[in-house]
Amino acid sequence: MTGTKRVFIKSYGCQMNVYDAERMGEALAADGYRATDSMEEADLILLNTCHIREKAAEKVYSELGRIRQLKEDRARSGGRLSVGVAGCVAQAEGAEIVRRAPSVDFVVGPQSYHRLPQLTREAVDKPGVVDIDFPAEDKFDALPSRAKPGLIARGPTAFLTVQEGCDKFCAFCVVPYTRGAEVSRPVAAVIAEAEQLAASGVREITLLGQNVNAYHGEGEDGRDWDLGRLLMRLAEIDGLARLRYTTSHPLDMTDGLIAAHRDLPALMPYLHLPVQAGSDRTLAAMNRRHTADDYRRVIDRIRAARPDIALSGDFIVGFPGESDSDFEDTMRLVEDVGYASAYSFKYSQRPGTPAAGRDEQVPEDVKSERLQRLQALLNSQSADFNKAMVGRTMEVLLEKPGRRSDQITGRSPYLQPVHLDVSAGAVGDLVQAVIRDAGGHSLVAEALEPPRAAATPELVLGGPA
Ligand code: SAH
Ligand code: SF4
Ligand code: F3S
Repeated sequence: MTGTKRVFIKSYGCQMNVYDAERMGEALAADGYRATDSMEEADLILLNTCHIREKAAEKVYSELGRIRQLKEDRARSGGRLSVGVAGCVAQAEGAEIVRRAPSVDFVVGPQSYHRLPQLTREAVDKPGVVDIDFPAEDKFDALPSRAKPGLIARGPTAFLTVQEGCDKFCAFCVVPYTRGAEVSRPVAAVIAEAEQLAASGVREITLLGQNVNAYHGEGEDGRDWDLGRLLMRLAEIDGLARLRYTTSHPLDMTDGLIAAHRDLPALMPYLHLPVQAGSDRTLAAMNRRHTADDYRRVIDRIRAARPDIALSGDFIVGFPGESDSDFEDTMRLVEDVGYASAYSFKYSQRPGTPAAGRDEQVPEDVKSERLQRLQALLNSQSADFNKAMVGRTMEVLLEKPGRRSDQITGRSPYLQPVHLDVSAGAVGDLVQAVIRDAGGHSLVAEALEPPRAAATPELVLGGPA
C-alpha cells in the first residue's frame, strides 16, 4: 500500500509493557499504520518506557538523543518524523520529557494510549502535547478487538492484562504512581479477549497484573471473582491449553488461588512470587507487610497443593539501612526456598518514593558485592534446577523456529526454552518430549510421539510426574 504510515515501536520494562505495545500496535493498525523494524524507515517512532529503576528511565533519554539526529536529518530532506513517548516514564515525567527532549512530539501515559491515533494527529499542529490523564473511560473498551491482527506478530503464547495498578505502596516502588490505583477488569471482558486470542491460534495465556493475584473483577454472576475462579473459567476455553499469571504478591496467595494450582492441570506449575528481601527488618522498612517466615509458610502451602511447582522471585539488595546481617537473612531465605530462576537488582533511588529520601543509603560498592553473591547463589540454583530435568518427560509447547534450521524451540511447563529437532512438530503444537541435555538457560529434548495439534485443556499434563 502506498501512502501508508510506518511505525517503529520499542518497548522497555515488564511484560505489561509488552502487552501495551501490542495493543498500541493494534490501535495504530486500525488507523492505517504498518510496522517497520527500522527507525530510518519510520514515520512514527514510539518508545514505550519503564521507570522502575534509574537505568531503565535514563535509557530513554539516550535513545531520544539518537532519534533527534534522525529527525533533524529527515527534516533537512523535506520529510517528517514523529516521536512519541509512552509508558511509565511518560506517566512519571509528563511535560518534563518534552522540556528535556524537544524532539518529542507527544507524551502518552499507560492509561490513555487508546487515544494514540488521535494524539499523533494533534501533535502535527501542536507538537509537545502531553496526555497522562487517568481518563474516566476504560481504555480496554476503546481499543480494537484482538481478533484482528495488529502490528506485532502473534505466536502461540500471549499476555492478557487482567489487573492494573497497585495499592500496596512498597517504599522503593514507582508502580503505584505510574500505573495508578489497582483496577481489575470484568470477567466478561477477560473471557472475550481470551476467546479472541484462542481463536487466533494462541495456546497459552499469561494473565498480567502488577498485583495479579489481588484480582477481584466483576464475575459473570455479578459477584466479585478472585483470580482462582477466573483461571478455572479460562481453562474452559477451547484451544487454550496453558495458563500462567504474573506478578504476584505473597499477601494475596489466597486459599482459592492455591486450590487452583492443585485442581487445574492447565495452570502451569511455575510461580513468580517476589519476596525482595529475607530480613524482617528490611521487609518492614520496605512496607511489604509480611515477614520472611510468612513467605516461607506461603511457599509451604503452595508446595503442599502442587508438589511439582517451581518458583521464581525478585530481590533487591542494598535497600536503605540493609546491614550485612540483613543481607545474610536474604541469602538464607534463598537457600531455604530454592528458586528455579530469579531476578535480582541493586536498590535504585526513585524520585517521589518514600525510601528515596531515607538516610542510611547503602554505598554502591556494598550493593555490588551483595548482588554478586546473591546472583552466584541464584544462578547455581537455576543451573541445578535445569540439570534435574535431564531424563524427565514433559510437555513442550512449540513456539518458534530454532536458531539452527534443523531445530524448533518451545517452552517447558517451567518456562525453560527447549530445543527439539524440527521433525518434532509445528509451531503451536504441544509435544511430549524427554529432556536429553541441560545448558545454562535452555534444555535439549527429543519428542516422544506425534504432536497433539488440538489439545483440550483437560488433557494437558502440568509437568513432569
Ligand atoms: N508487583 C511486583 C513487582 C513489580 S516491579 C511485586 O510486588 O513484586 C518488578 C521488580 O523490580 C520488583 O519486584 C523489584 O524487585 C524491582 N524493583 C522495583 N523497584 C525497584 C527499585 N527502586 N530499585 C531496584 N529494584 C526495584
Ligand atoms: Fe511495586 Fe510493591 Fe506494588 Fe509490587 S506490590 S508493584 S513492588 S508497590
Ligand atoms: Fe517498568 Fe512500568 Fe512495568 S515502571 S516495570 S514498565 S509497570
